[in-house]
Amino acid sequence: MLRHGVPGRCHVLMLVLCLSAAEDFQWTKNEWGAFYYGTFPTGFSWGAGSSAYQTEGAWDKDGKGMSIWDVFSHKKGKILMNDTGDSSCEGYYKVKDDISLMKDLKLTHYCFSISWPRLIPTGIKSDHVNEKGIEYYDNLINLLLESKITPIVTLYHWDLPRVLQDKYGGWQNISMVSYFNDFANLCFERFGNRVKYWITFNNPWSTAVEGHETGEHAPGLQLRGTGPYRVAHHMIKAHAKVWHTYDTQWRHKQKGLLGISLSGDWGEPVDITNLKDIEAAERYVQFSMGWFATPIFHGDYPQVMKDYIGRKSAEQGLGSSRLPTFSAQEKSYIKGTSDFLGVGHFTTRYITQKNFPSSRGNSYFTDRDLAELVDPHWPDPGSEWLYSVPWGFRRLLNFVKTQYGNPMIYVTENGVSEKTLCTELCDDWRIQYHRDYINELLKAIKDGVNVKGYTAWSLLDKFEWDEGYSERFGLYYVDFRNKNKPRYPKASVQYYKRIISANGFPSQREVESWKRKATETCSTSNQLLATDPLTSHMEMVTEIVVPTVCTLCILLSAVFLMFLLRRRN
Ligand SMILES: *[C@@H]1O[C@H](CO)[C@@H](O)[C@H](O)[C@H]1NC(C)=O
Ligand SMILES: *[C@@H]1O[C@H](CO)[C@@H](O)[C@H](O)[C@H]1NC(C)=O
Repeated sequence: MLRHGVPGRCHVLMLVLCLSAAEDFQWTKNEWGAFYYGTFPTGFSWGAGSSAYQTEGAWDKDGKGMSIWDVFSHKKGKILMNDTGDSSCEGYYKVKDDISLMKDLKLTHYCFSISWPRLIPTGIKSDHVNEKGIEYYDNLINLLLESKITPIVTLYHWDLPRVLQDKYGGWQNISMVSYFNDFANLCFERFGNRVKYWITFNNPWSTAVEGHETGEHAPGLQLRGTGPYRVAHHMIKAHAKVWHTYDTQWRHKQKGLLGISLSGDWGEPVDITNLKDIEAAERYVQFSMGWFATPIFHGDYPQVMKDYIGRKSAEQGLGSSRLPTFSAQEKSYIKGTSDFLGVGHFTTRYITQKNFPSSRGNSYFTDRDLAELVDPHWPDPGSEWLYSVPWGFRRLLNFVKTQYGNPMIYVTENGVSEKTLCTELCDDWRIQYHRDYINELLKAIKDGVNVKGYTAWSLLDKFEWDEGYSERFGLYYVDFRNKNKPRYPKASVQYYKRIISANGFPSQREVESWKRKATETCSTSNQLLATDPLTSHMEMVTEIVVPTVCTLCILLSAVFLMFLLRRRN
């Protein structure tokens, strides 16, 4: 957002924006039950996450092929500010640095994804396997294990090899199932002696809906009301195929687990006494998490999806439903193909019933017959979709428990972005978000939900898909304008560290001091920046020190605050 040489007046304006946004936060509001003091089960796993395209950079290095995200982000107008993931965090070159950050946090696991085109440039294994790509992941896995950090490895986090998209239509084509299976097989063969936790897909909903309905994500297609269902159908089959491959060919030797990671918001009825709202809220969850989880745990799509899409397709005069069907054989092949469930969760919506006439055309969104609402009191640090609603997390986890037979769960993504224009290392809102969401997770475990691990999303600030670099999810701040992409700990690093070392929230007395202690260090580092004369930083600014812009921001905020205080007196 902030490029070089932004005029000073702009900073004041941004500052006013920052301050006024901060005033709207009401983080302390907690009408859904008190904070729960207690600890997690012994052996509970604490991690952080990332994904290949968002962090690796090195998009065309060492024989890597292009992915659909390389193609998409290089098109002008698709990504905010026309940004790309070409270099991003340069994670490809910073494996050691990043693992030392993880060690400092005392993480017990790290979730990352393997770039398919880095290993197999065209996507088709019989064409060519890129040994340099294998080396990179070998090294990453070895260094993690040496540091006693368990790798949890995702095979697909949205970066399909471009050749498969351009030549065969990507996930719209059933032949992706066997190409993906070959790629997975290669990963089991090369890494499976060391990797014991595999995830086939991370958030396939996004590939289906954002990739093929709205077109906001690669491959940028708008095949409304048909594309997402076809794509999801093939991804579910691909998942099942890969699970069977692992189960029959590798499990006896490698003794690992393989699952899928599904993301979903919680949907709460607007009016809990209105049956229509209650049903609409359930539909909301069934059309997202249930779309994938129900076939994988029970063998077929949720009844409510079959009913709604079937009825609307008939009203539109179509001979068959836009939702594809599984044969009896496929159902039994797909059912029971997840050793654990990865859960990604960020936010909640209020849901009310809303009819959309079939004549208005096809769309995944109108198929659901509902409207999404948010409570204006929910804290929202700036991202247009991510409101902090911790109690929704506990409800979603309980939903998973009752719907899918209490599966083993790893939370694979949970976190919050900020959209401040200033460099912000004192991320109070992230501390509050993790504290409250992790506390609801603890309550869910007390409810009997079988959660084994929690993954903060994400370790670093990174390329945030169509939002470019404007949204920062990291525990660590990354200075993207500096070629070296230096990382700086935000206050949330200190806070998360305390949760990890205490394995939860042992007592009120102890926990109450954490936030102060976490923000103490960040305010000292900010003060250092503010009091040092600017000129002494000039040489180091591109290398070591947090950007000039930040320093200016802080100086100006001091001036601005003084101005405010004076006016009040
Ligand atoms: C992105 O690229 C398009 C097309 O070249 C251009 O019109 C637009 O101004 C660019 N946006 C920015 C922020 O540079
Ligand atoms: C699907 O992929 C196969 C190659 O596996 C190709 O022969 C076929 O033409 C593709 N279908 C479409 C519709 O692109």
